[in-house]
Amino acid sequence: MDRRQAAAHLEHFGELGVAGWSRDRAWRRRAGGPERRPDGEIVSGAGPDAEDPDAVPDAGESALSLEAVEAELGECTRCQLSGLGRQRIVFGVGNPEAELMFVGEAPGRDEDAQGIPFVGRAGQLLTKIIESIGQSRESVYIANVIKCRPPQNRNPEPDEVGTCEPFLFGQVDAIRPRVIVALGAFAARTLTRSDRPISRMRGREFEFRGATLIPTFHPAYLLRNPQSKREVWEDMKKVRALLETNA
Ligand code: URA
Repeated sequence: MDRRQAAAHLEHFGELGVAGWSRDRAWRRRAGGPERRPDGEIVSGAGPDAEDPDAVPDAGESALSLEAVEAELGECTRCQLSGLGRQRIVFGVGNPEAELMFVGEAPGRDEDAQGIPFVGRAGQLLTKIIESIGQSRESVYIANVIKCRPPQNRNPEPDEVGTCEPFLFGQVDAIRPRVIVALGAFAARTLTRSDRPISRMRGREFEFRGATLIPTFHPAYLLRNPQSKREVWEDMKKVRALLETNA
């Protein structure tokens, strides 16, 4: 391993929560490629170019495998959620080489009981959304920003996000999906480092760790607001088109 690789390795461990190292590479910039705003929004049309060697995330060279990220997470007690009624850590599920990844907020009651993301009512709707573009739960990868259920499904707190997000970033670097769908305001804001409302983020494309990030409404929101399914369908058609490009 040369010095550059060793430095990348150390930085990656930093992302995984090892104290003393910057974990702040979520908005890593690369030379060339499409123009991006500070929150990663792609403003010059084309998405990240899969043929461009610069488009490969830096961490790809040194990324841990998914198994290694899960092992690093272990029986995590890094934040208070481990002592607030969590039954299981919900790491993620699906294809470790998926081209398409979905990121939600945090496990709910059903996910906490089964250890699998998106298995409750919202999860059943997500499965239909995934299948609407010819994919399946087995062909994609599904994870959450937060791996443990917050009590009474309250919103995750900033320190919980800060502690947990390096493991999501590790998952993204291991899988290296081409497209990531951020489900709902919480995931979209976490991944774009923005506090814009989801209604202003959806319909736009962002860049995140070498993938095109598409924010859309959370399936739980769709259960309450079925009229918004049409916009999600528009977003999913865009996802399908991105996957068909340079496939
Ligand atoms: N909502 C989420 O954001 N994630 C899940 O896993 C389930 C419901």
